[in-house]
Amino acid sequence: MLSSQVAWPLLDSGRLQVLKLLMDKNARETNRRNWDARARVHGQDRLYDSAQLVAGASSLTDVELEGLRRAVGQVAGLDVIHLQCHIGFDSISLARLGGRVTGLDFSPVALAKAAALAGQCGVEVAWVAADVCDPPASLFGRFDLVYATIGVLCWIEDIDAWMSAAHHLLRPGGTLLLVELHPFQFMIDTTDPLVFDFPYSFDGPHRLDSAGSYTDPSADIKATQTVQYAHSVGEVVTAAIEAGLVVRWLAERTNAPRDFRGDLVGPEADGRYRLRLGAEAAPMLYTVVADRPV
Ligand SMILES: C[S@@+](CC[C@H](N)C(=O)[O-])C[C@H]1O[C@@H](n2cnc3c(N)ncnc32)[C@H](O)[C@@H]1O
Repeated sequence: MLSSQVAWPLLDSGRLQVLKLLMDKNARETNRRNWDARARVHGQDRLYDSAQLVAGASSLTDVELEGLRRAVGQVAGLDVIHLQCHIGFDSISLARLGGRVTGLDFSPVALAKAAALAGQCGVEVAWVAADVCDPPASLFGRFDLVYATIGVLCWIEDIDAWMSAAHHLLRPGGTLLLVELHPFQFMIDTTDPLVFDFPYSFDGPHRLDSAGSYTDPSADIKATQTVQYAHSVGEVVTAAIEAGLVVRWLAERTNAPRDFRGDLVGPEADGRYRLRLGAEAAPMLYTVVADRPV
């Protein structure tokens, strides 16, 4: 009580704003260092098989393909921006479907790997290094499809800024496709015993320090600290609406084609991955399709 009484007059709203900006920048830098370090080791592992990609395999699973069908039907001939494209697997796969693809990420190491892979695949993709919440204004209004999948929003503090960027990147009539890990999945640390260690909805930054990566828990990642944020499905959909997008489709899935986290569950007899609570399967993924009105 005493400290807040003393501190409050010292931190007027201007200073609080500066403090918040510095903390945001610091969190982004922590995450960028982690993603640079992960990008250095990703590319020949259980999730990212570069040899297969170069040989012509697509990285798009049935979940992304269904989302694409719902969002745009055909990708061919569309201007597509792949947000938080990492080492470019989906960017390359979308280009192979005939999209004119731009991949955006804040990790220069990831983008360098993505560009090298695209070269080996003989596929043309434009690469942009930028913060996803602050993309270059030169890209505004240029895309038919904003595509973002699996593990993108937990790095973002300001979900309104992320949705606003998606809205600005789309041309009128364009569509956002977001396929994301369900926030319920994020809550779970281990399934046996069942331990929850992360909130369902936004409550500020969570500083984490964990070795390895979702591609390989024993991977030697040099920068292990991250800052992550929870965003409930309601918060994400509301942010899309408030950014001016019209939500056309929202689907929650209780099975997944992979264990995208790498350490949570194994495949069932049908090859699908489910997060069982007793006999019942909990949500693992969700998809949002939303249009920028004409
Ligand atoms: C889990 S990966 C996305 C994986 C991607 N769906 C794929 O198929 O490979 C998350 C990506 O988000 C990027 N990222 C995180 N925060 C970002 C930010 N603020 N601006 C731009 N990129 C960001 C990271 O560099 C990383 O490549």
